Amino acid sequence: MIMVTGGAGYIGTHICVELLAAGHDVVVFDNFCNSQPEAVQRVEQISGRKLTLVTGDIRDPVALEAALRQHAVKAVIHCAGLKAVGESVEQPLAYYDNNVVGTLRLLEAMRAAGVNTLVFSSSATVYGEPQYLPLTEAHPLSATNPYGRSKLMIEDILRDLHRSDASWRIGILRYFNPVGAHISGKIGENPRGVPNNLLPFVAQVAVGLRSSLNVWGDDYETPDGTGVRDYIHVVDLADGHLKALAYLQKQGGLLTVNLGTGNGYSVLDMVKAFAEASGKPVPYQVMPRRAGDVAACYAEPSEALRLLGWRAERGLDAMCADAWRWQSGNPNGFASS
Ligand code: UD1
Repeated sequence: MIMVTGGAGYIGTHICVELLAAGHDVVVFDNFCNSQPEAVQRVEQISGRKLTLVTGDIRDPVALEAALRQHAVKAVIHCAGLKAVGESVEQPLAYYDNNVVGTLRLLEAMRAAGVNTLVFSSSATVYGEPQYLPLTEAHPLSATNPYGRSKLMIEDILRDLHRSDASWRIGILRYFNPVGAHISGKIGENPRGVPNNLLPFVAQVAVGLRSSLNVWGDDYETPDGTGVRDYIHVVDLADGHLKALAYLQKQGGLLTVNLGTGNGYSVLDMVKAFAEASGKPVPYQVMPRRAGDVAACYAEPSEALRLLGWRAERGLDAMCADAWRWQSGNPNGFASS
């Protein structure tokens, strides 16, 4: 039995689908602060299998330990957390409480229940302002906002924990920019309010929910002046978690890998690809730079290939086509069902 914290969220649901397809039993532990039970039902529809759902908060040690013991959990994939950079600046305590304290409670509950295998959702945000590209796992770590600092603090906690007790099996996965959706169109990213991230915003413009995209700056030192990122299909990302889990169950240790494609695409590349995939216009206007953005950020993905035998398989066309299938079939997210 594998526990997925935040298993009702965007990345968590895609991980659950891949776990169920690979024959694992799954327990989702989620407080639904930024997700809907409907998402879990969609996972079951896609999979033709049931999973176990526990509604609970990772800051609740009693609920966590009970769930770990009751369901005989062997490993935890830890996706639960708050993830909006701007909000983290406004509400730092909420971010440190949910992300850092929540992870501490989870680790204590795992220790009490005798579960020592953890895969953690980290982020390329821990590299801060890139000093070189592509980003290798050895790049210096830093953070520029409370969200990023919470991810970096958790990474430090996990490294200290492993140093103190090498029987822990810990995978730190540094995500680049997850986009796309399951090919069925039944699950996908369902942001609350105005999307902060590029692809959900573009998708909402294409479907007619918003009139046009603000492009945050076209004066960066990049080929077309707009920001360059390493967009990775969420199903490839999910598959990376299964590979990391298999690695840890076989070899143990402390694993730290980038999950990215190694390709950088600009904002305008994404707008063009999405307009082609959807057949809809994506009007935009160029605005000043967004505070805190970097010009370019993309992965050196070879460590994940070497250690896990994992590489991203899905290209830009699939990312946009699958995001469009989800967005056009569910214009109001899970609420439309
Ligand atoms: C952002 C966060 C990052 C977090 C990641 C995942 C910031 C500064 N960084 O990454 O810490 O790990 O999300 O949630 O918030 N863009 C536009 N118009 C828009 C939205 C985005 O032009 O309406 C541009 C951005 O300037 C950037 C690119 O699109 O060049 C990607 O932006 P976004 O999807 O927000 O991801 P990141 O900024 O890379």
